[in-house]
Amino acid sequence: MSRPKIQNYKGCGLSKGKEREQRASIRFKTTPINTLMDVLRNRPGWVEVKDEGEWDFYWCDVSWLRENFDHTYMDEHVRISHFRNHYELTRKNYMVKNLKRFRKQLEREAGKLEAAKCDFFPKTFEMPCEYHLFVEEFRKNPGITWIMKPVARSQGKGIFLFRRLKDIMDWRKDTRNSDDQKEEIPVENYVAQRYIENPYLIGGRKFDLRVYVLVMSYIPLRAWLYRDGFARFSNTRFTLNSIDDQYVHLTNVAVQKTSPDYHPEKGCKWMLQRFRQYLASKHGPQAVETLFSDMDNIFIRSLQSVQKVIISDKHCFELYGYDILVDQDLKPWLLEVNASPSLTASSEEDYELKTCLLEDTLHIVDMEARLTGREKRVGGFDLMWNDGPVSREEGPPDLSGMGNFVTNTHLGKPSQGDLLTSYPPERGHMATPAARKPGCQVVCLEEGKELRFVNGFFTAHP
Ligand SMILES: Nc1ncnc2c1ncn2[C@@H]1O[C@H](COP(=O)(O)OP(=O)(O)O)[C@@H](O)[C@H]1O
Ligand SMILES: [Mg+2]
Repeated sequence: MSRPKIQNYKGCGLSKGKEREQRASIRFKTTPINTLMDVLRNRPGWVEVKDEGEWDFYWCDVSWLRENFDHTYMDEHVRISHFRNHYELTRKNYMVKNLKRFRKQLEREAGKLEAAKCDFFPKTFEMPCEYHLFVEEFRKNPGITWIMKPVARSQGKGIFLFRRLKDIMDWRKDTRNSDDQKEEIPVENYVAQRYIENPYLIGGRKFDLRVYVLVMSYIPLRAWLYRDGFARFSNTRFTLNSIDDQYVHLTNVAVQKTSPDYHPEKGCKWMLQRFRQYLASKHGPQAVETLFSDMDNIFIRSLQSVQKVIISDKHCFELYGYDILVDQDLKPWLLEVNASPSLTASSEEDYELKTCLLEDTLHIVDMEARLTGREKRVGGFDLMWNDGPVSREEGPPDLSGMGNFVTNTHLGKPSQGDLLTSYPPERGHMATPAARKPGCQVVCLEEGKELRFVNGFFTAHP
């Protein structure tokens, strides 16, 4: 139940149980994205509200949040899909500022070695305010390639590569002009970032990875990692000879699908499972383990870097889309974190991934209050951090911080053969995407029961 703050909310004071009893259905609002609408509309007991109607759950866009969040009263049970100041992590300049600050703090408190664990983002300068620092760095490394990215745009818009200072003069001129006319044209901030010149190539093509991380709370930090995700390939073979060709250098689907070589049926994605298997066959399982645990480090450190900055409101959760680039030494680099990762589907496989991802997100948001709070796995999500690292097996907590035990992450691992969560079937219906195919029969691991997936539910098979 959400209302403008000035109104008096009459539901206050009811106990949680009573309130739930009185709420026969969950009223939701959503932005018009097909996967999201399909999942929400098909969820048993959920009803859509339009316009000014009251809601219990809102998958809103960030512009709604900016304009309305501070004026909206939300009752205890209400949930909304972003944190108020999500941009601390999801704007390219703020993300880097927070990471730099966090790295300094680690160096002070825990030493250089610990601080070095934050060295997973390419050298970055905010423009125009760090222009002079950038020029100093630029001169130290003649001949290397840089990439300019607008801080708040997405889908590759406004991005260009450069090697000469003169190439960004036009951009500087533009910002100077707009400085003169401050009120009329707002200055668009950019970051200048070191371009990763040695991306890992498959079939001669560059790609980056999209990984989903769900944060339910910042204080304490509670974050889940989704097993599925994908690699996004460019259509054109990689070369450093033509830095102006966005089809070579930008792996965004929005860019690649405008390429003349794009095949709508083939698309430009690989599921993470396929990527993981490919790497294992080329480099062996140990190298893959190291790469994926380096990625875990990126997810956790980046969230920790904003832990004290983000307003940890119990009404908020956020499904982040991480962009990770892997280089030829199998080092993963964090490019950016998206607050509104694309949820539109570019193929049938993509539709399946995204609807499962959203269903599982809703399972964890748990408006229906089904979870016990002790789950380590829900659908395709694994609990990665719960005010500290989560171990894969029951055992003593790891007091050293990170390492010395196997973390509970399974990114890109096959979920076949392990179809259900250890979740009691009578309380819910959670399964990994592989088990969700209509008619698919699965055995509940815990109780040995046979279940069948019908119309969005798991039901016991007589
Ligand atoms: N530092 C970099 N080195 C190499 N490639 C990069 C770098 N930064 C961005 N890219 C490429 O450009 C694409 C878009 O950059 P990104 O930072 O994700 O911005 P956007 O918000 O437009 O998606 C990435 O998916 C990647 O292919
Ligand atoms: Mg991106």
